[in-house]
Amino acid sequence: MKVADVWQQFEKKLSQQKSLEDLEVLRIEFLGRKGRINQLLQKITQLPPEKRKEFGQEVNQLKRKIEAAIESKKQELKVELENNLSKEKLDVTLPGQEPNLGHLHPITQMKWEIADIFQRMGFEVLEPVLEVNTDYANFGALNIPPDHPARDMWDTFWTREGYIPITHTSSMQNWIYRNRKPPIRAVIIGRIFRHEATDASHEHTFYQIEGVYVDKNVTVANLIETMRVFFSEFYGRQLRAKIRPSYFPFVEPGLELAIECVLCNQKGCPVCKHSGWLEILGCGQIHPFVLKEGGIDPKKYTGFAWGMGLDRMVMLRYMIEDVRHFHSGDLRFIRKF
Ligand code: PHE
Repeated sequence: MKVADVWQQFEKKLSQQKSLEDLEVLRIEFLGRKGRINQLLQKITQLPPEKRKEFGQEVNQLKRKIEAAIESKKQELKVELENNLSKEKLDVTLPGQEPNLGHLHPITQMKWEIADIFQRMGFEVLEPVLEVNTDYANFGALNIPPDHPARDMWDTFWTREGYIPITHTSSMQNWIYRNRKPPIRAVIIGRIFRHEATDASHEHTFYQIEGVYVDKNVTVANLIETMRVFFSEFYGRQLRAKIRPSYFPFVEPGLELAIECVLCNQKGCPVCKHSGWLEILGCGQIHPFVLKEGGIDPKKYTGFAWGMGLDRMVMLRYMIEDVRHFHSGDLRFIRKF
């Protein structure tokens, strides 16, 4: 094997190398301990003594040539690698693109906002434990026995088995009294169901916010002030509130609370029917019968309860004219919020 042949073979292989790893393999093949160069050097013993020196110099020259060629190829590959890496570089500091995740339904937004206000006022907030409940929970425990004429106040759905998709969040009152000890401060926000002929202001499914407050010496004055503070927080300014008598079998006295019309500032508008007042909720002092059914001694404790429509509050805030939009599933409506 001639020294020149080895160089030729090397040059051919070198031109084919594409990576630093392959180049290293090539280096070992030629310059390694058992590499081609050393193999050549071993042949020196087969030569006549006078030719050995020249051959040795020749091989050493080749060795240096190969070393230099490998080194420059190495630099070349490194530059190429860096160029490629910088082209593929991922800039992790670039601002991301906001994904389109949709947003919360206006009812949910308002539910959270209201829950937040009552929580700050010291109320716990929960949902109805059952959306289909017993006659007792929805009526009986609330002082509305079977055949009581007040049952007509709620257009009730019934299941074949005699259960009720709850007609009001008051269905949670008995549960709350049985599962908490006074002082009780609780707000229940839940979905309710009524057998309504639907129109712009009536739906078969809507939302109510129930509140109860039970402690020693709780009075109607506490009720009015609690409501006034809540609505002032909600609408972001001090509002006047007034009450007038009403009737619900589970409160005595039963009351209706009105706040000043937030749309016209009491100048009179179609929404408040030019009265300047918005009737916003039913409320009253919890009936002793209801406390007793809940295992609370009405001689020791008193309390108040209220119930209001969440949908109506959303409608008032955004001037929505038809309650049926809420459950229509129409995205053009939802996207406005
Ligand atoms: N549950 C009543 C309704 O749905 C509202 C209410 C709740 C009234 C609590 C008084 C006290 O109409």
